[in-house]
Amino acid sequence: MSDKATLILDGKTYELPIIEGTEGEKAIDISKLFKETGYITFDPGYVNTGSCTSAITYMDGKNGILRYRGIPIEQLAEHSTFVETSYLLIHGELPTPDELSHFSSLLNDHSLVHEDMKAFFSNYPRGAHPMGILSSMVNALRAFYPEVPERSHEEEIDLTVARLLSKLRTLAAMSYKISRGHLVIYPSHELGYCANFLNMMFDSPVKPYVIDYDVVRALEVFWIISADHEQNCSTSAVRHVGSARVNLYASISAGISALWGPLHGGANQEVVEMLERIKNSGGDPRPFIERAKDKEDPFRLMGFGHRVYKTYDPRVPIIKKMVDRILEKLERTDPLLEIAQNLEEAAVNDPYFIEHDLYPNVDFYSGILLRAMDIPVNMFPVMFAIGRLPGWISQWKESMDDPNQKLCRPRQVYTGPTNRDYIPRDKRISRSKR
Ligand code: CMC
Repeated sequence: MSDKATLILDGKTYELPIIEGTEGEKAIDISKLFKETGYITFDPGYVNTGSCTSAITYMDGKNGILRYRGIPIEQLAEHSTFVETSYLLIHGELPTPDELSHFSSLLNDHSLVHEDMKAFFSNYPRGAHPMGILSSMVNALRAFYPEVPERSHEEEIDLTVARLLSKLRTLAAMSYKISRGHLVIYPSHELGYCANFLNMMFDSPVKPYVIDYDVVRALEVFWIISADHEQNCSTSAVRHVGSARVNLYASISAGISALWGPLHGGANQEVVEMLERIKNSGGDPRPFIERAKDKEDPFRLMGFGHRVYKTYDPRVPIIKKMVDRILEKLERTDPLLEIAQNLEEAAVNDPYFIEHDLYPNVDFYSGILLRAMDIPVNMFPVMFAIGRLPGWISQWKESMDDPNQKLCRPRQVYTGPTNRDYIPRDKRISRSKR
């Protein structure tokens, strides 16, 4: 195969380099195209644009494959822990027992947040969405904890990483407790990362929380499969904002804001709300499917479709297995699960969904899993954010270490008015009279 692509523009021939990834993915390098031809490429929503090279996560949307640092997520979900997977993403290799124990100790040592941060929470209006609170809290962390310069020593970066990973989880649980007007529960040195989170969420002085290690495992798995997803919207936001050389906390805060959106990580909340609406309307999913197909109706089937996966999202069977396991263990049923299964069955057999390659994505069943753990619905996107944090950090770190990294600054094709003169205020005609 040629290592150059040929482009003919205005009768002139240009050769563009082709780059190839380790899994055979090919890309045409157009970075010099504008300089050489005066043309830019046009790709709204970056549907076909590679913004970087990356050695972190591999996705194959046609065959439903997802691997972190080469390891299939199915294996990580079976054997790993969230802390170990975070280490793998951030450092590139699975930790040795000593490395893991050092990393876990760092997370434990930095789990508390400054007491003055509680004042931020108390000034938020009741009912504020926890994702908005979390995003500003992460930005505020920088004022309380010294910033690490981008190209500093590994140990200093490790410290900031540990702070962020540990404190984000503490802040999330705090935001829940404070929003309920309950006493804040502090992290415990005795507990692991996931058990600690559940304990901070649900323990109370009047009713001690009894840790169920099957629920802890379900949370581990949920966070493992959420941990990275290559250049998705929030990760690209982290890289984009970080490319201006702003600090890590501000970059992560941008990622949280992006993840909040209903087309991205906010979809898990939207799915459960949609399933509730189906239940309240009698339980038949078909009218909702018809609405999703109607081009005049902005409604979309939440938890369906993906930019990259044109087949089943490989995270879905893992989540489904966890949902069944946890509901059985807790001896519970969830009426929304049956509605979700009926909706899935009807949608995947509908010609519109088949033609458009629309299958359930990770958010379709994750809300049901989180409900089984008693996580309130407005905390669902926050749960996703805690899981995605190691991915954001590793992608930020990779971009900072990349000698070819540039300021992210897309171009545009201008479609506004051409050159015209300024009109004095007294000569202007109001739009309605024109
Ligand atoms: N329901 C109905 N139609 C859909 C849906 C859906 N959920 N998703 C895509 N389509 C249709 C869309 O109308 C368009 O049809 P046509 O070509 O006839 O105009 C076609 O499929 C392509 O849609 P698109 O919006 O151009 O595709 P995209 O790659 O930009 O969209 C998506 C990806 C995830 C934004 C979209 O599928 C969607 O809105 N899904 C619902 C929200 C959701 O579940 N988001 C979670 C995504 S996975 C987790 C994560 O990223 O955090």
